[in-house]
Amino acid sequence: MTGPPCLRRGEDALKLSIIHGGAIAVRNGTVVWTGTSSDISASIKLEQDAVEIDATGRVVTPGFVDSHTHPLYSGTRQAEYALRASGADYEEIARAGGGILNSVARTRAATSAQIKETLVKHLGTMLQFGTTTVEVKSGYGLDFDTELRCLQIASDVAEDWPQTMLMTFLGAHEVPLEFLDHPDQYLDYLIKEVLPAIRERKLADFVDIFCEKGVFTANQSARYLRAAAGMGFKLKIHADEFHDTGGAAVAVETDASSADHLLSISKENIKRIAASNTVATLLPGTALFLGKPFPRGRELLDAGACVAIATDFNPGSCFCESMPFMINLAVCQCGFTIEEAVTAATINGAAALGIADRKGALAPGMDADMILWNLDDYRGIAYHLAVPDIAGVIVNGHLVSTMFD
Ligand code: NIG
Ligand code: FE
Repeated sequence: MTGPPCLRRGEDALKLSIIHGGAIAVRNGTVVWTGTSSDISASIKLEQDAVEIDATGRVVTPGFVDSHTHPLYSGTRQAEYALRASGADYEEIARAGGGILNSVARTRAATSAQIKETLVKHLGTMLQFGTTTVEVKSGYGLDFDTELRCLQIASDVAEDWPQTMLMTFLGAHEVPLEFLDHPDQYLDYLIKEVLPAIRERKLADFVDIFCEKGVFTANQSARYLRAAAGMGFKLKIHADEFHDTGGAAVAVETDASSADHLLSISKENIKRIAASNTVATLLPGTALFLGKPFPRGRELLDAGACVAIATDFNPGSCFCESMPFMINLAVCQCGFTIEEAVTAATINGAAALGIADRKGALAPGMDADMILWNLDDYRGIAYHLAVPDIAGVIVNGHLVSTMFD
């Protein structure tokens, strides 16, 4: 995955720059040299306390960058999953007071220890499945106290947690009951009262909004995101998931880092996003979990978009932490080549988070986050459905997880 740390699109998304018989030297958590095993001893002098990891016969890739997750909540939604299994529709359940608002009620009522326990449990699973960098969204509080409490829990966990965590404020995930039928007033409340406090406490890098029929319109989303940008936040948007409401166009107009979901993006907006610096982040696990048609990866890739994939891990619409499974789905259901899917799960995920200069590739200067695979051919990553052949996960140069030893 060496190469330009920019948005990888077109031909660039196909280049994995594989080194056969490769070796990597790491110092203080940073990659300092890559090349072949036969050249390493001439180029690198090991320090006395250096640790050598023998990866003979194994594929080594950058750790996965999961650029879209919602692990700050409490309580399961398996009862709703059962309702859906008996024929109910996700949007119908939401309109009847279930869905996101169901998780909001439980998260507000939960202790901080309960929210932390859920977060840590799922981060641990992500790590075992190779995710070394993860974006964490709030959005199950929808009031000042709970939103700040959740983001503070994530910041505290991030301090001594191996994975790199970036936080996103998703207070505009849904209109809470206190503001029922008054989405604009709720957005004003977020802009005037909540965003300044989040900025002051440095609790989030990004601000996100759910632009969707029945939630926030494209105009409301643009107004809100512009206000957030004015306060110095970087932007993300849940766009065109169930209906084409123009969310992808809002992302391009506001220069958002990414537009995510895009199940219902129009042909015109595919062209727009492809011509922009906004990453198109596809979440194939959500389409699978909800029984919806898969995102049109091939169309976006062929148009020249910079495409990332992520899990969208959350309790309602995709209860799955596995990036290798997202690669499976991208390849067998969304038209990606294996190389494009690996790019989308690593360096392009990092691009969606604005950190492609240090995450998502293994080249000198990059963070030493990597996965050791029980595979001698990288194509096996996409081939083995739902069962990742991971031998170990390295974060900052340290082996932190071995899955099936
Ligand atoms: O990204 N689309 C909006 N939000 C989440 C789902 C949240 C939920 O159902 O709890 C998503 O899919
Ligand atoms: Fe989401």
